Amino acid sequence: FLIVSFLAGIFASAQAGNSELQKLDFKAEEFRLSDVRLLESPFKAAMQRDGEYLLRLEPDRLLAWFRKEAGLEPKAEVYGGSESSRGAGHSLGHYLSACAMMYATCDDERYKDRLDYIIDELALCQKEIGSGYVAAIPEGKRGFEEVAKGIIRSSGFYLNGVKVPWYTNHKVMAGLLDTYSLTDNKKAKEVLVKFADWAIEVTKDLTPQLWQKMLHCEYGGMNEVLANLYAITGEEKYLSIAKKFCHKDVLDPLAEREYSLKGLHANTQIPKVIGAARIYELTGEKKYKTIAEYFWQRVVNHYTYVNGGNSTFEHFGTPDEFSDHLDDTTETCNTYNMLKLTKHLMKWHPEAELGDYCERALFSHILASQHPETGMMKYKGYLEMPAKKHFSTPFNSFWCCVGTGMENHAKYGESIYFHKNSSLYVNLFIPSVLSWEDKGITVRQETEFPYGDKVSLRFECRKPKRLKVLMRKPCWAENLSLKVNAQLIKPDLSDNGFIQIERVFRNNDKIELSFSRELKIESMPDNANRIAFVHGPVVLCADLSPDKPLPVIAANKEKLPSSAQQIQGKPLHFRIPEAAKTMTKEAEKTVDIMLVPFFEIADEKYSAYIDAFSPEQWQKKKGEYLKKQKELRQLEQRTVDVLRIGEMQPERDHNLTSSKSRTGEFSGRKWRDAYDGGWFEFEMDASPDKPLELICTYWGSDAGNRRFDILINGKKIAEQVLKNNRPAEFFSAAYPIPESLTEGKSKVTVRFQAKPGSTAGGVFGKCR
Ligand code: AHR
Ligand code: ZN
Repeated sequence: FLIVSFLAGIFASAQAGNSELQKLDFKAEEFRLSDVRLLESPFKAAMQRDGEYLLRLEPDRLLAWFRKEAGLEPKAEVYGGSESSRGAGHSLGHYLSACAMMYATCDDERYKDRLDYIIDELALCQKEIGSGYVAAIPEGKRGFEEVAKGIIRSSGFYLNGVKVPWYTNHKVMAGLLDTYSLTDNKKAKEVLVKFADWAIEVTKDLTPQLWQKMLHCEYGGMNEVLANLYAITGEEKYLSIAKKFCHKDVLDPLAEREYSLKGLHANTQIPKVIGAARIYELTGEKKYKTIAEYFWQRVVNHYTYVNGGNSTFEHFGTPDEFSDHLDDTTETCNTYNMLKLTKHLMKWHPEAELGDYCERALFSHILASQHPETGMMKYKGYLEMPAKKHFSTPFNSFWCCVGTGMENHAKYGESIYFHKNSSLYVNLFIPSVLSWEDKGITVRQETEFPYGDKVSLRFECRKPKRLKVLMRKPCWAENLSLKVNAQLIKPDLSDNGFIQIERVFRNNDKIELSFSRELKIESMPDNANRIAFVHGPVVLCADLSPDKPLPVIAANKEKLPSSAQQIQGKPLHFRIPEAAKTMTKEAEKTVDIMLVPFFEIADEKYSAYIDAFSPEQWQKKKGEYLKKQKELRQLEQRTVDVLRIGEMQPERDHNLTSSKSRTGEFSGRKWRDAYDGGWFEFEMDASPDKPLELICTYWGSDAGNRRFDILINGKKIAEQVLKNNRPAEFFSAAYPIPESLTEGKSKVTVRFQAKPGSTAGGVFGKCR
């Protein structure tokens, strides 16, 4: 008899709370994370790498600026990256959640010890500050004092000049909640309650209008965490403030099923919708249900790339128009959040379609977001043609996706199984052991999937039990074969897409499901000739290592899957012989395409999308295509650095500073200008030994008083006037940089200086 420890299972799950408060009767309940133990698989390996990283991080370094803000001496040096800048503190919140999940997942006391220590420290900081507030955000106290006075200056990422302060508070609050829910640390709940009471106090005089104005600044999932706090405490005041944290401009139109997401910052919106979903569960108010369902459908079916991710340059682009928007796509946080939302929907109506999304996103985005050796995380930029993954550093990155990344790999156990009465849903094929305590049953799922095509479930039952087991029939699965105790039975498909097996289960009963999968191609919605390869939920990329040029397929694309040859001894690796063309100098060369699973790629060059023309199309397109490729390659080779102006992270990376400057968005592009004689300047990489140009993009209809100088290292290199230069189109201007200014230098400072009383720019980023 298989014995699985139930010790960690005595605590409530993160979502649980007081079930009497919950108005919605779930059709599928989630198991506690501690009920599921992963068995050997790429997921378990990712979880272990993540666990090692969490243990390498030092709580005192994550706490350093919390102590500083509380007027206490930091005990260690603060980490680099976002932790020692305006985003400080968000990582500690994620760290709490991740350690709590890791503790629930693998019962290792080292995570619990760290959590207990951090909670004691946070309680101390909170006491020192005195108001209930506890954060590391630079200028946070000042910003919120202004909020309390009804002063609201808010834009996408700044509230009263402070960077996304509610977003950061949400991370800490969620970390406190997870620590309480998953490890029963009561002090974590006390700190959270005081922190939430502070939030009520600080916003108590805001009018509904000021509330909505404040919510223009990204606020993470404040509505979600406060709704969860209501579920735990039963105190209406938390539900009331959770509802106030609902941004009407975005959520109201979603409730009417009529909203275009185009141009919106994706990761700002998804958590708002998760909060709405949680409010629906607690109140039964249908409008919140519509918001969640409609948003999910829109995002998954119209804004999602092949890897299950969404966004380009962090924003939603034009629905169903992806093929020319492959730069900087699919921020990992977005998929972390879409998976959270999917779990809510799964509980309301367990449907195979939801599982299909979840599976694609886990196998082809989340798993692919972690370096398969170092455990470091990727932020975005997965799908360029060609691409290379760029991973975080252990102690000097701490981007948002490092935070959500800490959690991602600690919670693979959360959506494998669901249950309701005597029904057990097997949603994902991930090797694991489920302890279904209420039923006295342990289920052991063994599978080599995605490398193999069989899944077996073995039941350990204390007593015989009548159960209905529902195994998801994945959208890609063909030729199903089902056996119960070695006897073939005909698969019976439920209306919601699950294979159902209802019987009395006895100890050692075994279900075996096998299926077949084909290599398939998926075309871009707006370009049938731009394709990706998938094998079940696994995206396969063209391996371009060490530095092969991007090939173009010149073969009948429908025939590609059948001509692919599986590489001996390497499941999910394929060769498609002589299917593609590349250019070497001027000559065309025929090459094989080598396909590898996206999640196995570490530092190699690859392309997830590839252009595919029939031989006839290729003959016609060849000249034009190769010319374009050559120009792009030349520009790429000449490019020393790119700044995506107006975007937070790239500007931060280039140390942008400014006076009288603002950012905005127009026609799908971000811009920055400087008004009334103001300026902005930033650093860019230079090349010490070759002449450079500065290339800038402007909007051809910009006019009015827009006269400015462009300076390199304080020396003027150009004067620009914008006066309807190229009506109704974007245009680029190239400014040669005198060699004397870059000679021997690896960096230069570029400054846009408005003439007195005039405006510099707008300077625009690239189109999405
Ligand atoms: O602003 C905080 C986070 O940082 C956003 O949600 C993410 O998109 C960004 O990079
Ligand atoms: Zn992120």
